[in-house]
Amino acid sequence: MTRAEEIAGNLARVRARIAAAATAAGRAPDSVRLLAVSKKMPADDVRAAIAAGQRAFGENYAQELRDKSALLAADALPPEWHFIGPLQSNKVKYVAGKVALVHSIDSAALLDAFEARGAPQACLIQVNVAGEASKKGLPPAELPALLDRFASLNHVRCEGLMLIPPRGDARPHFAALRALRDREAARARPHVDLRELSMGMTDDLEVAVAEGATIVRVGTAIFGARPT
Ligand SMILES: Cc1ncc(COP(=O)(O)O)c(C=O)c1O
Repeated sequence: MTRAEEIAGNLARVRARIAAAATAAGRAPDSVRLLAVSKKMPADDVRAAIAAGQRAFGENYAQELRDKSALLAADALPPEWHFIGPLQSNKVKYVAGKVALVHSIDSAALLDAFEARGAPQACLIQVNVAGEASKKGLPPAELPALLDRFASLNHVRCEGLMLIPPRGDARPHFAALRALRDREAARARPHVDLRELSMGMTDDLEVAVAEGATIVRVGTAIFGARPT
């Protein structure tokens, strides 16, 4: 089996998992988008996934995104890039205006750095639902103020929330993110439309879909274990 065949087979299995989970939850399979996490994987793996019908790819490192997107930009079907990793303000220039969606906004300073680039940018706010000191993400208590901030800015808009749960049972954290979204969506704000819930990875995508995920971010099940 070639690498391209392996990736195509893996993608088909992941799509089947998503469809089965959506159906079990009474949701339409196409209400969940698959983001293929290509972090640390070569450009040719992305090409193989595109040949198998995948469109959206997530990267965690700003310079890796810059380099990989340059390699693939001239292809007949270039990827739709998403940025899903932690980001320092001085690296925002590699990302702003170059990705369909930034999943990892977790502070007013980072949001302001995107605004300052002057390009339209769709964003999700990464929320630290469990309040873990070691994890990135905005404390839930600070969510209303950060959402309010979008109203006073011109280039950024907020399309939803993102979560990386702690180890262990992810379901209560997924449910908590959805509850936060539902609570905040009840309040209309300019430049804010909380339609996306980015949650669920290789090991827990079914649970995430059951709890309302609209984007699942899957790496290992598509590309295999990442090089360390
Ligand atoms: C933010 C984020 N989402 C999703 C993934 C994909 O995880 P998995 O390989 O378990 O599918 C990663 C992997 O590093 C990640 O950092």
